Amino acid sequence: EGPDVVDIRSLYAKGDVFTYDPGFVSTASSKSAITFIDGDQGVLLYRGYPIEQLATRCDFMEVCHLLLNGELPTPDQKQQFVQTIKNHTMLHEQLVKFFSGFRRDAHPMAVMVGVVGALSAFYHEAMDISDALHREQSAFRLIAKLPTITAMAYKYNIGQPFIYPRNDLDYTENFLHMMFATPAEKYEPNAVIARAMDRILILHADHEQNASTSTVRLAGSSGANPFACISAGIACLWGPAHGGANEACLNMLEEIGDISRINEYIKRAKDKNDPFRLMGFGHRVYKNFDPRANLMRETCHEVLNELGLHNDRLFKLALELERIALEDDYFISKKLYPNVDFYSGIVQRALGIPTSMFTSIFAMARTVGWVAQWNEMISDPEQKIGRPRQLYVGTPRRDVP
Ligand code: ACO
Repeated sequence: EGPDVVDIRSLYAKGDVFTYDPGFVSTASSKSAITFIDGDQGVLLYRGYPIEQLATRCDFMEVCHLLLNGELPTPDQKQQFVQTIKNHTMLHEQLVKFFSGFRRDAHPMAVMVGVVGALSAFYHEAMDISDALHREQSAFRLIAKLPTITAMAYKYNIGQPFIYPRNDLDYTENFLHMMFATPAEKYEPNAVIARAMDRILILHADHEQNASTSTVRLAGSSGANPFACISAGIACLWGPAHGGANEACLNMLEEIGDISRINEYIKRAKDKNDPFRLMGFGHRVYKNFDPRANLMRETCHEVLNELGLHNDRLFKLALELERIALEDDYFISKKLYPNVDFYSGIVQRALGIPTSMFTSIFAMARTVGWVAQWNEMISDPEQKIGRPRQLYVGTPRRDVP
């Protein structure tokens, strides 16, 4: 089911025709068995399982195993997988020194692009991407080290000492520990908060051929090593039209500030002479609703209730903004609905995570999707180096006077 698919590779081979498709709105760059989206129906499946079931019945480690291997783990497989990830949570001390080369006020995403790319300099065997075991090892390293790198980027930014991983905690609690513990104060796990963070990770884990995943695949198609490819993905994710939207959305809610000003911003979003867009609204593929946004709204309620913040100013503002936009003819006609980033910022803010860290946490969650997609591409015998064509519109041949 779905749209008709035309395989035009034979036309390319003749060299006399190619498609012009800016933004790849109707071009499939690959085959993939990882994630399925039906944008009209609001369906998202990881390896066939609905996101609603994964978000409510599984934890992030199980979802990682599913995305990487195609199946949810048995209890034994899960134990082994979790232990393998724990074995790789530490960073090489030389790599820890990288952080001090950045300004303290550097954006955490800038630091992450650099530090994740620098992993390439530490694992020489990972350069051999033809070996499936090396590829698997790199996947484990990336999934295990991203929380450590993300938390260190935060600690460096606020001037606190780095907090090293604790392998007696699970993946998500360990991340919260590295973010919030200090040498003077232990991190006290809270089940509702850890579950909310785990859900954020699950909801952001993969989303088929979005801009950053396509970037990872394109970089990897040349045979570049996985750390360099994931670093490229992080750079792409940073943009406000993609993963940077959660940060931009919270900044927008702060700027609106009060329910009485919502209409003014709705008006601006509809004005074609104003570049302003309602952040956290709209999606290239979802044209009915984003199933992740529904789950995130639910988590938002849970977290705010747990923390006694149900009267949170920005949450009330977001709910009202959503209500007004969903009744507005412009948003209805253009099929613009809240996306996952509309509520994830409010949840993260309630968890005590500063706005500047939102996109880094998205990158940490998406790493498993990126490596699963990268590995799938490398294993696909049909895959070629990514090399789009162009429609040349410049000056015809001319001679230098
Ligand atoms: N506010 C106001 N108008 C919008 C918005 C918005 N958030 N999004 C799209 N539109 C309008 C456009 O102006 C355009 O109008 P037109 O037909 O009159 O020219 C129409 O809807 C279609 O928009 P496009 O930009 O062509 O749609 P596209 O599929 O290329 O963009 C995108 C999707 C980038 C997500 C867009 O909706 C957007 O910029 N949203 C805000 C940023 C955001 O929330 N990004 C997060 C995406 S989800 C994620 O990365 C996890």
